[in-house]
Amino acid sequence: MKTVRKAVFPVAGLGTRFLPATKAQPKEMLPVVDKPLIQYAVEEAVAAGVTELVFITGRNKRAIEDHFDAAHELEAQLEADGKTQLLEALRGTIPRNIHCIFIRQPAPLGLGHAVLCARPVIGDEPFAILLADDLMDVDQGVPPVMAQMTQRYAQEGVSMLAVQEVPRAETRQYGIVSSEPYRPHLERMRAIVEKPAPESAPSTLAVAGRYLLTPRVFEHLARIEKGAGGEIQLTDGIAALLQEEPVLAHRFDGRRYDCGSKLGYLQATVAMALKHPEVGEEFGAYLRGRQ
Ligand code: G1P
Repeated sequence: MKTVRKAVFPVAGLGTRFLPATKAQPKEMLPVVDKPLIQYAVEEAVAAGVTELVFITGRNKRAIEDHFDAAHELEAQLEADGKTQLLEALRGTIPRNIHCIFIRQPAPLGLGHAVLCARPVIGDEPFAILLADDLMDVDQGVPPVMAQMTQRYAQEGVSMLAVQEVPRAETRQYGIVSSEPYRPHLERMRAIVEKPAPESAPSTLAVAGRYLLTPRVFEHLARIEKGAGGEIQLTDGIAALLQEEPVLAHRFDGRRYDCGSKLGYLQATVAMALKHPEVGEEFGAYLRGRQ
């Protein structure tokens, strides 16, 4: 069985929900404490053993390329100033054995189309997809969510999506799966549908932004028609894949923050700030003092 070495980060979205903050910068570059959102997703992929990072970008996304590039002048300055901790943080943005590949999505045709743009560099290998809007947090000692999935993949060898229960009123925001129990925390998927109305949703088990797919999905993504919202939907490609291969739903251990929404972004900021080695303790005391 092939191991998962490559991850796709679809980052071409416009981020209209955060305007005007995202007028001149990508939403994936919004900081949560001191790291941009995209870096949390990249670190999660790297912790899962991924070495090839494939970013699907669009207009106005140059800052993401710059972020994952070396910054020689800045490094020289920090070195000269003896600011070694900052220098390490800067160099740690992208570890040495990791490669970044940037592909431009020519038009905003949907998440499924963005993933299809990665086909030439993914080739015939299983691959991960991480949506940076979904910031995943785990308790100390628990592997990051994508690492939980690659571990499971090593045992099962089939495609897998991260899922969690959501309130029925919210099904319109997610891909929703119907499934049957398979193993602890693992379901065998029967169907998947993109953003169903609460009354017609087959369940309340929602897809979070983490996927591990076999390359066979590209065949389907290349063929499917526009779906919900007039876009080529990843969910529809997976629904077609499901007709010929098993796909599992992994009830991940951890917490998802929807950083595509203001409330989720603020909650993530508080959670990450409370854990932060530099400011966590003081910030916690500050919050308690305000209650
Ligand atoms: C996308 C997917 C959806 C999934 C969600 C997770 O939707 O299309 O199936 O449940 O991500 O965050 P989006 O949030 O881009 O509208």
